[in-house]
Amino acid sequence: MTTQISDKVVLEVKDLYTYFFNRWGTVKAVDGVSFSLRQGETLGIVGESGCGKTMTALSLMRLNPKPASRIIDGQILLDGEDILQRSEKDMREVRGRKISMILQDPQTSLNPVYTIGNQLVEALVHRGELQRDLKLEAEQSLRNVRVAAPRRRLEDFPHQMSGGMKQRVVGAIAMACDPMVIIADEPTTALDVTIQLQYLRLLKDIQAETGMSIIFITHDFGIVARMCDRVVVMYAGRVVEEGPVRGIFNNPSHPYTEALIGSVPKMEERVDRLYQIEGQPPALYDLPVGCRFADRCRYMQDRCLEEYPPYYQVGESQRAACWRLDETWQTNPTS
Ligand SMILES: Nc1ncnc2c1ncn2[C@@H]1O[C@H](COP(=O)(O)OP(=O)(O)O)[C@@H](O)[C@H]1O
Ligand SMILES: [Mg+2]
Repeated sequence: MTTQISDKVVLEVKDLYTYFFNRWGTVKAVDGVSFSLRQGETLGIVGESGCGKTMTALSLMRLNPKPASRIIDGQILLDGEDILQRSEKDMREVRGRKISMILQDPQTSLNPVYTIGNQLVEALVHRGELQRDLKLEAEQSLRNVRVAAPRRRLEDFPHQMSGGMKQRVVGAIAMACDPMVIIADEPTTALDVTIQLQYLRLLKDIQAETGMSIIFITHDFGIVARMCDRVVVMYAGRVVEEGPVRGIFNNPSHPYTEALIGSVPKMEERVDRLYQIEGQPPALYDLPVGCRFADRCRYMQDRCLEEYPPYYQVGESQRAACWRLDETWQTNPTS
């Protein structure tokens, strides 16, 4: 099933900065990130471990770890309203109903002492409508994520379920209030690619019914290529390239994107692909002044070490930040 993508922008992130302040200094986890998401669209956020994907997602929910980190600047326009201007009390209404996140680890996001049914009902109560049969709704939300015999499952405790089933239950809880935007962050323990794909397919089936928008966070470009409409490529806290998946796959304009795509192995290979890009990303508390990818880049010029490149518009809706594009493309002053 495919979903119609509308022109309506449901989420617009503008120049978002989320920093950690600790004794080593300032960790620039999210360092000027902008992107937008339309209704019914699936956006991939891709990049190596530690580049700020999860912190970006948590910032969108305003669930970044506090007080260790702070959103220090930017706008997060959700359904036209800047949630950074809302109170913490308002945020409880926003979370779950407008934007929701499936946390990385299903083991820790379910409470072991309550039944699945209880946890679903709690998520539903959050929606605030009291005149309904919550148990029936809980059953329906399990059915939505294709759990067999959902009524019986309501009585189960998390430990009675398989890993894959728990993951679907976590999804059911996140989607219980029918959010406009669902964020699915890849599990930290590198789940099997096949299982990740299966899960994303389930989300996309639900998307076809509800029209929700999906942000899918992964380190795997192969998954993005198969499942997403657009992609944001992150490196060391910044967006280095953004655009339609097809455009980027056919014409990667940032050397980092090129390297990510180049390191996508055939499906049957089971290697941790990103390790094939030589070198390490820079430490986020000690960033170079120039391009953050420079020391790993095969196209590196002097200029790359001196100044961070602007975004160049390289296609209708594709932009990338690399000095190499300077000869051919115009900069995009709006981003
Ligand atoms: N609790 C924390 N304290 C200090 N720094 C942190 C903390 N959590 C994450 N970070 C830093 O934020 C950066 C981005 O982390 P994260 O968003 O989890 O990366 P990703 O999801 O892309 O792997 C990491 O490089 C890490 O150094
Ligand atoms: Mg992460």
